[in-house]
Amino acid sequence: MERMKPNAWKGVVLSTAIVVSSLLPFTAHAAERESDTPVWTRQHASNFVLTEDNTAPEINDFEHVAPDYWIWDTWPLKDRDGKVATVNGYKVAFALTASKEYTWHGRHDVAEIRYFYSKNGKDWTMGDIAYDPDEAYGSRRWAGSAIIDENDRVHLFYTATGREGEEVPSVEQRLAKVTFDIEAKKGNKGVSLSNWGEHELLLEADGEYYETMDQATGDILYSFRDPEFFKDPKTGEEYLLFEGNTAGYEKVVEPHHIGDEEFRKNHEVPKGAEDFNGNIGIAKALDDDLSEFELQPPLLEAMGVNQQLERPHVLEKGGKYYLFTISHEFTFAPGLWGPDGLYGFVADSLHGDYKPLNENGLVVANPENNPFQAYSWYVMPNGTVLSFVNEFLDVNGDLQFGGSFAPTLKLSISNDTTKVTGELGEGQIIPSN
Ligand code: FRU
Repeated sequence: MERMKPNAWKGVVLSTAIVVSSLLPFTAHAAERESDTPVWTRQHASNFVLTEDNTAPEINDFEHVAPDYWIWDTWPLKDRDGKVATVNGYKVAFALTASKEYTWHGRHDVAEIRYFYSKNGKDWTMGDIAYDPDEAYGSRRWAGSAIIDENDRVHLFYTATGREGEEVPSVEQRLAKVTFDIEAKKGNKGVSLSNWGEHELLLEADGEYYETMDQATGDILYSFRDPEFFKDPKTGEEYLLFEGNTAGYEKVVEPHHIGDEEFRKNHEVPKGAEDFNGNIGIAKALDDDLSEFELQPPLLEAMGVNQQLERPHVLEKGGKYYLFTISHEFTFAPGLWGPDGLYGFVADSLHGDYKPLNENGLVVANPENNPFQAYSWYVMPNGTVLSFVNEFLDVNGDLQFGGSFAPTLKLSISNDTTKVTGELGEGQIIPSN
């Protein structure tokens, strides 16, 4: 999500909550940790450096995959075990889309998920909206994930943003799902969807682990969005990960959010940092149909560090769990700087003690002279990384809005370090193994 324009996001100007929270004393002396949720500390997030291992090649130009539409957050159709799926030889992807009749910044207010298909995984055709918007939850749909199950039924998990039928877009976020059949027509005629089930509302913020819209403070949008399906290969248990914020009306940056004792001696936490309380949420599936989920405590929190840990997703590789999330420069808390980038953490189990990859968490950044060229990186099981062209400088150095698939990056992941090793075609998906 981009920085909110106050007039465009009326629902978020939660004036009472903001005033109340700004009067709360900043507390950094709480002696005891109340939870053992792993943290991305201010100490970790204090030393980001762009290097050739984390910096993506520059983008000055690209092909528009659907010239009349803005395209942004993108995800592949996977099977239940997390591998990229093929439907009769076609790769399928889903993405947030909006007609270019709407402005670049206005696109979030009208976003719908469309599907794309490709035989070779690099030349994509855009299909329709993946459901009937009049049947869906929310007033528009934000990012999610999609799997095809053993009965060839697609489960599309999505963020229901706002409320059905509302005239002014509000920003409440809930997690929902719709299922449908998918068919690849004979004779290279592409892919079609049919036989939709009823949309199901899966999860709402509980106010105990996950902040509700009412509890939100600060100027940046709160979050309860971006459901990402994951089946833990070690246990067979199934989950949704999502972007959340730590719940509660009283926001407190505790010592363990800041860093170790040595670091804390010389580090001042500016007032207002407590309004930056992003976390990575998780809910466990209670049934095989993936219709019932139970919220669990967050996998990671970034209290006093960053407001938005967007589109979280996890991979298991060599017995380790790699947890990735995207974040923006402007969502780092006061007193910290980090680039628009892909960030990552590693642990020995899904609910493990996550530590930042590369020591501070930075995995992919845009090049220094084109710092907003791409966003919404999504790491696929084979280490290739999707993203979209965001706000980039063209060959003449002029700022342009992108809105199409960015070149897929190649990432090597080994123990607790990562390396950008090259790039493929725009939006290219190669089979996983
Ligand atoms: C990331 C994001 C997602 C959200 C979508 C809304 O680019 O902020 O978290 O679902 O964009 O457009």
